[in-house]
Amino acid sequence: MKLKGLGAGLLSVWLSGFLLIALSFYGTLLLSPSSLNDRSLFSRVSIAPRITIFTALNVEEDTQQALLCIRSWLALSSQVTVVLFTQHIPSSSSSSSSFTDKFGSRLLLDSTIDFTFLGTPYLHSMLARSEAYISDIAVLMDPETVILPDFISALNYAHELDRDWLLVSSSVDIPRFPFHWDGKGHFWRQDSGKRVRFGELQKMISMRSWKSNSGERKMIMAWNNVDVPLHCGVIPPFLYQRGTYNQWTINEAMSCKQRFVFDATSTISSLFLSNAENKYIRSGNVSEPNTRNWEYIGNSHLAQLYGSLFFSGNKSSTLPKLLKCNKRYIFVSNSDRSLDLSLPSVKTGLSVGFRRREKISACISRSKSRSVKLDFVQKDQAVPLLKFPYDLESLLPLVADKNRTIVLSIAGYSYKDMLMSWVCRLRRLAVPNFLVCALDDETFQFSILQGLPVFVDPYAPKNISFNDCHFGSKCFQKVTKVKSRTVLKILKLGYNVLLSDVDVYWFRNPLPLLHSFGPSVLAAQSDEYNTTLPINRPRRLNSGFYFARSDKPTIAAMEKVVKHAATSDLSEQPSFYDTLCGEGGIHRLGDDKCVEPETNLSVQFLDRDLFPNGAYGDLWLKKDVRAECEKKHCYVLHNNWISGRLKKLERQMMKGLWEYDASTRMCVQR
Ligand SMILES: *[C@@H]1O[C@H](CO)[C@@H](O)[C@H](O)[C@H]1NC(C)=O
Ligand SMILES: *[C@@H]1O[C@H](CO)[C@@H](O)[C@H](O)[C@H]1NC(C)=O
Ligand SMILES: *[C@@H]1O[C@H](CO)[C@@H](O)[C@H](O)[C@H]1NC(C)=O
Ligand SMILES: *[C@@H]1O[C@H](CO)[C@@H](O)[C@H](O)[C@H]1NC(C)=O
Ligand SMILES: *[C@@H]1O[C@H](CO)[C@@H](O)[C@H](O)[C@H]1NC(C)=O
Ligand SMILES: *[C@@H]1O[C@H](CO)[C@@H](O)[C@H](O)[C@H]1NC(C)=O
Repeated sequence: MKLKGLGAGLLSVWLSGFLLIALSFYGTLLLSPSSLNDRSLFSRVSIAPRITIFTALNVEEDTQQALLCIRSWLALSSQVTVVLFTQHIPSSSSSSSSFTDKFGSRLLLDSTIDFTFLGTPYLHSMLARSEAYISDIAVLMDPETVILPDFISALNYAHELDRDWLLVSSSVDIPRFPFHWDGKGHFWRQDSGKRVRFGELQKMISMRSWKSNSGERKMIMAWNNVDVPLHCGVIPPFLYQRGTYNQWTINEAMSCKQRFVFDATSTISSLFLSNAENKYIRSGNVSEPNTRNWEYIGNSHLAQLYGSLFFSGNKSSTLPKLLKCNKRYIFVSNSDRSLDLSLPSVKTGLSVGFRRREKISACISRSKSRSVKLDFVQKDQAVPLLKFPYDLESLLPLVADKNRTIVLSIAGYSYKDMLMSWVCRLRRLAVPNFLVCALDDETFQFSILQGLPVFVDPYAPKNISFNDCHFGSKCFQKVTKVKSRTVLKILKLGYNVLLSDVDVYWFRNPLPLLHSFGPSVLAAQSDEYNTTLPINRPRRLNSGFYFARSDKPTIAAMEKVVKHAATSDLSEQPSFYDTLCGEGGIHRLGDDKCVEPETNLSVQFLDRDLFPNGAYGDLWLKKDVRAECEKKHCYVLHNNWISGRLKKLERQMMKGLWEYDASTRMCVQR
């Protein structure tokens, strides 16, 4: 009242000062939610939280409907920003780029996350990336979701809670959404042009909610304090929009107890346009090549393999519900049907007070209709083997680049982390055309769950331990022989192959250079370490990194190599050299070539400064291997000339040429 007498200028100074103080206290509160008990200060300050919705979409596909939905989210409130993860960002000249202009600066496109070979985004990569955006509330939902304004009100309310929380809300499935978005008017219209009212949409939602909730429910997840993890565990490489992970995340967040997990289905009106799912062709036939069913099965496998057991066999559990009743929000714990006093309070002081129990029970019975269904994944003792609808022949056209070239790596289970590091490096260099050949079923299953394009080596020797399969061992000899047979098979199918062992670290993409050698040339790394000697000396051809073209001379020469290796007691490396350069190097040409006389195939030994082997120039002994290699403009560096798997792993990790974090199951972000 006193303030009334003061000048307007003074008032505004006072107000802004107060706001600043409040903001800084507010910041402190965010950092340590329980550090301040006196919340009276906040009852007068209400700052609209910044809401960032994370979603993913392939903008090159037909995404009209999803884009309309996203547009409708942005229209809900200026608090909303949308981050759309997409593999291909339309170039500014293309026509599809115009959609970003229309959305303005509140729609951000981000292509820095990881995708599978089919372009499916990885959820863990999306969530990790989401932490880079500054926001008060993060939301994860499917792009084909229609949300109504009560979504914003519920989040504004949740923002006032005095602890960290995770809100979940089930969306109602609707096969056909009969309205279209009016971008100018910011509302949905009927075909007749008539504006659709909020109440009509809400009614539509409440009518559908009584239908059976068969299948995987679509959900919205929202959480505050975006720097704090959602749960205590590590997210496995779930595929986005392929089911299971919502349930899994709720389960983990509840067992972790760091966040208050609650169900806001009754307070948030949302629809999932389920016709959008048809594009994934959820046929039951896993052998059908264009089905995406295996991706759903893969997600459920991951959920069974990883995570807590908290909810297994406990079907009676339900989440506390957030209800809106008499224009107030209340929390209800469904297990005992009464107001749970341990539930969090609200900063504003407009809190959860109730005088009469009847009122509460009236709200509860009204809310019975809709809630998040907790179908927790059962932990099976034995996870059945995952079927993969692809084989080598069907993967090649999916993976190869426009030159019909693939990058092939061959790995056994004990090298799975190194395989992942290699894969992460290729992703980082934007080399998508790689293919993994699994030497055993464990590697095959592992790779499917990682979303890698993988096939089982049909020639792989069975019943051998790959644990210490290092150079010179019996195992190494057997394994290397299957490599050339697999390469030959792919060449015969009409694709060029760059074979790169997983212990070859890539600094930059060598493919354009390797292509430049032209036809009838096989380019291979040299294993010579003595700087004064020619690089094509006998038996110095390294069969762990070479580029073979699918042409007549190469195929004929590779056939000779495979034949030679089959009768030799040694590994395939000498077979390569003795076949292509002649025993003792009689077919050598100059200091860096050989010509195989029968097929006229030339072998080009690659410049060691650009393609150093593990012993050349003592590169691995340098303090800063990366800087040294970059100075030489290396394309790759081979982590060979070292004995033992563990020493090899250690060397690569110690020197910072390691790209995979096995503890988070994610590529290292740099
Ligand atoms: C599944 O798909 C494969 C490949 O298209 C087909 O050969 C097979 O007959 C199908 N099986 C069933 C049960 O429909
Ligand atoms: C089952 O749920 C109840 C109540 O929600 C909980 O107290 C109990 O610990 C749960 N049991 C298991 C095995 O998770
Ligand atoms: C697998 O290896 C073990 C030990 O090396 C041997 O005893 C066994 O006979 C092998 N099995 C087959 C099917 O080759
Ligand atoms: C594809 O082949 C052309 C012609 O040989 C070459 O210039 C280009 O660099 C190749 N592209 C890649 C990605 O290797
Ligand atoms: C390299 O080769 C030369 C000539 O054969 C030899 O004298 C020298 O000792 C070799 N160096 C190493 C490090 O082996
Ligand atoms: C290899 O080249 C020689 C000389 O150019 C030619 O006579 C011979 O026919 C060629 N061989 C093949 C298999 O192309």
